[in-house]
Amino acid sequence: MLRSARHLALLLALLTGGSHATSLPDPLYPGLGQPGLDVLHYDLALTVPRPGTPWLQVTTTATLRAEQALDTVQLDYSGPDILTVQVDGATVPYTRQAAPPKLVIHHALRPGTEARVTVTAAGTVTGIQDATLPLRLGWQSVPATSTQPGANFAFNEPDGARSFVPVNDHPADPATFTTHLTVPVGVSAVASGTRLDDRTQGATHTVTYDLTVPVPTYALAIHVGTLDEVRRPAIHTPGQTISWTDYFPTSTPADLRAPYARTGDILRTLSDWFGPYPFTSYGSVVVTPALPALETATLSTMPVRSSRERVITHELAHQWFGNAVPLGAWSDTWLNEGFATYAELLWAQAKSQDPQPLLDAWRARLTGGTRPLIATSPAHLFDDSAYARGALALHALRTQVGDAAFRAFLHTYTRTRQGHPTRTADLLDLARTQLGLRAADTLTRWVTQPDLP
Ligand code: TRP
Ligand code: ZN
Repeated sequence: MLRSARHLALLLALLTGGSHATSLPDPLYPGLGQPGLDVLHYDLALTVPRPGTPWLQVTTTATLRAEQALDTVQLDYSGPDILTVQVDGATVPYTRQAAPPKLVIHHALRPGTEARVTVTAAGTVTGIQDATLPLRLGWQSVPATSTQPGANFAFNEPDGARSFVPVNDHPADPATFTTHLTVPVGVSAVASGTRLDDRTQGATHTVTYDLTVPVPTYALAIHVGTLDEVRRPAIHTPGQTISWTDYFPTSTPADLRAPYARTGDILRTLSDWFGPYPFTSYGSVVVTPALPALETATLSTMPVRSSRERVITHELAHQWFGNAVPLGAWSDTWLNEGFATYAELLWAQAKSQDPQPLLDAWRARLTGGTRPLIATSPAHLFDDSAYARGALALHALRTQVGDAAFRAFLHTYTRTRQGHPTRTADLLDLARTQLGLRAADTLTRWVTQPDLP
């Protein structure tokens, strides 16, 4: 495409929030994802022979469909050396590209055709420097210390998955995952979804997990380490039974394990507001590094220092907002963070706490400045406006329409947007049709006005 035409398309997408999965290239991360490529499923086999070290071996098979004619298949990848690439079982040529980091597979696909692309790689994974914050995304290695055995896990949002696996690394292409993890006997390995199998061969064992609800690539949980597996009672909501297991590094003190016992109550409260929980299992995995918490699907990744009810509630809310209902563009992170932050208030109220301190705290986070809710820079993705202004916008809507209409609106949103990449315009459309013009106007002011309404 001509450069100017491409810019015009980008500008239009930014202004209108055009509502389709095919809105790639992303306005803020134009290098991520391949337009016209739809990955349906990833089968991921990871071998971690020495947990805590950055060496791994990975074989991934992506089942994909071309939505338009593709001359090559271009997966996002900046991981270790590639050993082989196959399409439907036959070896094919490939090249690696540095900027943006891609694995270019020289195999053309006609529109509407499917293929299985298998890539094998092995080596040391270093991770990716976040675009704006002082943290490394992707495959994490936590070396053993005198008090704690080594561990590894994935911390991928927004674009760290490509640090160790070739993926169409954009939330507008959610997929299902089968994950096989091979680790030494005595080391635990857990991933998003349901455990299908745990098989020992010699000094290693291979654990297989299956996630049958599509989620963004950044939401896949993978954890390897010496973990206490705490099985909890099943969680019963009207019409659902959800199995619940938490995982703690053996060094986790009891007072930091305690808040996780409330997860079942929190899940029941949130499903009352949001609608049915989108998966069949849930739990948290505690990790020791000082990272942000991350809402990995069915199994949130919780830094030990974030082991508080408020953060547990926030990550659980993302299972609806972000995982089941994926972002259509990175500029819309407030759709994830605003709802997840608002859930903190819903849980406080469920415990009969006064919500005012939370509302005040959110306002206080914005006194230094705020912005319209649609992000225009990577630095905006996880800023105070995405979280606090997003939550205040939802509170303004709730206050205007009342609890019953607000709850019905949330139920419709999660039911109709599940599996569909969603942009701010989709939320506004639904507000207009379900809640009326006045409510939609309120929300629009919160979305677009430079200052705080
Ligand atoms: N989505 C995470 C949460 O709020 C936060 C997060 C993910 C994050 N990746 C990040 C924050 C990178 C800062 C930088 O639960
Ligand atoms: Zn969040």
